[in-house]
Amino acid sequence: MKRQKVIILDFGGQYNQLIARRVRECNVYCEVMSYKTPLEKIREEEPIGIIFTGGPNSVYEDFSPKTDKAIFDLGIPILGICYGCQLIAYLQGGKVSPASEDMAREYGKTETYFDTSCSLFKGLPKSGITWMSHGDYMSELPENFSLAAHSDACPNAAIADESRKLYGVQFHPEVEHTQYGRDIIHNFLFCVCHAKGDWTMDDFCERTISELKKEIGEDGRVLLALSGGVDSSVLAALLARAIGNRLTCVFVDHGLMRKNEGDEIEAAFSKWDLNFVRVNAERRFLDKLANVTDPQQKRKIIGAEFGYVFLDEADKFGITNKDFLAQGTIYPDVIESGKGDAEVIKSHHNRLLPPEVMARFRGVLEPLQLLFKDEVRLLGEKLGLPRYLVMRQPFPGPGLAIRIIGEVTKQKADMLREADYIMRRELAQSGEDRNLNQFFAVLTNMRTVGVMGDGRTYDYTLALRAVTTTDFMTADFARIPYETLNRISVRIVNEVKGINRIVYDITSKPPATVEWE
Ligand code: XMP
Repeated sequence: MKRQKVIILDFGGQYNQLIARRVRECNVYCEVMSYKTPLEKIREEEPIGIIFTGGPNSVYEDFSPKTDKAIFDLGIPILGICYGCQLIAYLQGGKVSPASEDMAREYGKTETYFDTSCSLFKGLPKSGITWMSHGDYMSELPENFSLAAHSDACPNAAIADESRKLYGVQFHPEVEHTQYGRDIIHNFLFCVCHAKGDWTMDDFCERTISELKKEIGEDGRVLLALSGGVDSSVLAALLARAIGNRLTCVFVDHGLMRKNEGDEIEAAFSKWDLNFVRVNAERRFLDKLANVTDPQQKRKIIGAEFGYVFLDEADKFGITNKDFLAQGTIYPDVIESGKGDAEVIKSHHNRLLPPEVMARFRGVLEPLQLLFKDEVRLLGEKLGLPRYLVMRQPFPGPGLAIRIIGEVTKQKADMLREADYIMRRELAQSGEDRNLNQFFAVLTNMRTVGVMGDGRTYDYTLALRAVTTTDFMTADFARIPYETLNRISVRIVNEVKGINRIVYDITSKPPATVEWE
């Protein structure tokens, strides 16, 4: 039976991933696709509904992103959000105009009045707070559309053509600030698109195992790139269920792991009933990284080198070109590494395998590539992985290389490892680590003057980073108590030679990213 799917057409809005999450929280499978996706492709996908996202442009500008008008003739329900709503109005013959200072332009929480006879607002109270962020407004409704919500400043906050199942909301139902936002998305999915809610983790798990079995075949083997992080560990469990001991897990220790981490991973996986190999490749990676300072260049070198190590291991273990390579790539890796129109923020290491590495295998398996981090954790729980593994904080594939700003050397890596270890120990001891989703130290390439004892120092500045987040696509800096920060700072400066100043990173994502490089 074909799984129901919703397509989210991406017009460049900042909350697009959040829309995808909200849809999946309703147990409905969805995928984000570029607004340039040809109509034919959309038709082939047979979605039960389409959502147009927000975006930074004005629909009346010539160059603003638009979709083929014929999309409205597919007979598929459409919900437009913010820019997406204005696009529906515009393409259907309505008018969208720039709002004036005090009229119709709205940013932030806004009391909005709903027409509860509209399918979108069924079962809701007559009004609620919504999150608005628009400088344009629909000054004239298109023919056949009726008004479904308004606010004090904006006459047309939602529009509907119930007969054609076309809806638009000027506000953002996907953000937490919108009261009843989840209900509105739920109504669109279940009352309008007749979703069954068939996307569950159990279903995904069983389906993926059977798909993997089919793809790998009766005697195919798989070499899994195992980093010991959540994603590749969950994938190891999934593949072990699918193909048993035809799986070989290769853990490449590039010498840029956190303190003790390589040994811990080896100890944990050696207990599992699978073929586990640790490759100590510190020299190999550090040699390649010598004199390299550009972040994207570092990522490329490391991504490629991983690939070359896999090639060597594949040869050693008799993995042939009829066998597969598997990676624990997840959705944010794909999105942030640049997909379609999305700008490349940073290429995640698992997106950087050289073509000759890919060609050496029958294919590259990435069965988690549509999941968000918290979905991967849930899958890990379903597969019976121990909680400490499932809840581990992420550690990027390139490791400390992207937490050492400037050139990476063994000496700097050792310095950072010690400092990072102190930070982790102190956060664990204060219990503060339970409130954080990721935390680590970053060795900047800035040196400053200090005084220790009676002497002058001219040493490195270390930054502490700690964030709270659910999906790592957005994150807030953590409000760690000063006392804890103080203890970490005093210990690091006293105990780690070469560091004489500590700063705390108080930027969120966006505009920053979690990692510094
Ligand atoms: P950023 O820095 O992009 O990080 O906000 C988001 C999350 O992704 C992790 N990260 C990576 N994970 N390979 C990975 O497996 C990578 O190349 C990579 N780069 C960043 C980062 O630690 C954070 O959890």
